Amino acid sequence: MAEEISIHKGTKSEKYEALLPQIKGLLSGETDRVANMANFVAALKMTFGFFWIGFYVVRDKELVLAPFQGPVACTRIGQGKGVCGTAWKEKRTLIVEDVNTFPGHIACSSASKSEIVVPIVRNGQVVAVLDIDSDDYATFDKTDAIYLEKLIEQIYW
Ligand code: SME
Repeated sequence: MAEEISIHKGTKSEKYEALLPQIKGLLSGETDRVANMANFVAALKMTFGFFWIGFYVVRDKELVLAPFQGPVACTRIGQGKGVCGTAWKEKRTLIVEDVNTFPGHIACSSASKSEIVVPIVRNGQVVAVLDIDSDDYATFDKTDAIYLEKLIEQIYW
C-alpha cells in the first residue's frame, strides 16, 4: 500500500476511529519492530500534532529510548522512575494532567505539561511503553487511554 495516511477532522474519538484501520494497514506485513514503532509515532504525530510521542523499550533493568517524534529526550529511565518507569512497574496506563504534581516526574523538556504513558504487555511482561507529552495541561483522558491501548495492540512484538 502507499505509505500515507489521511488526517480526519472531528472529535478526538473520530480521529482515533479513523486512525485505527490506517495503523492496521500501515503495520500489516511488516514484522520489524523499529520500522513499525517509527511509523506508529509518525502517524500519531500527523493526526494529533502532539508535542512529543515516542517509545521506550525494556532493556534489562531500564527503559531505553526508541523511535520518537519531537525534541530530543532522555535516553534511559529506571523501573519505577518517572511516569514511564511507574507505568512499567505498575503495568498500567497512567494519565497525568499536570506533570508538576507527579512525584518524580522526569522533565525531558520544560515545555511538557501533561502526559500519558501506555505500557505494551506481551505474555504478561511489559516490553515497552508508549509515552506522549503535551505542552498543554490535561490533554489526555480515558478516551486516549482506550484508543491508544487498542492501537498498540497492532504492533507485532
Ligand atoms: N516525562 C517522562 C520522561 C520521558 S519524556 O517525557 C520524553 C517520565 O517522567 O517518565
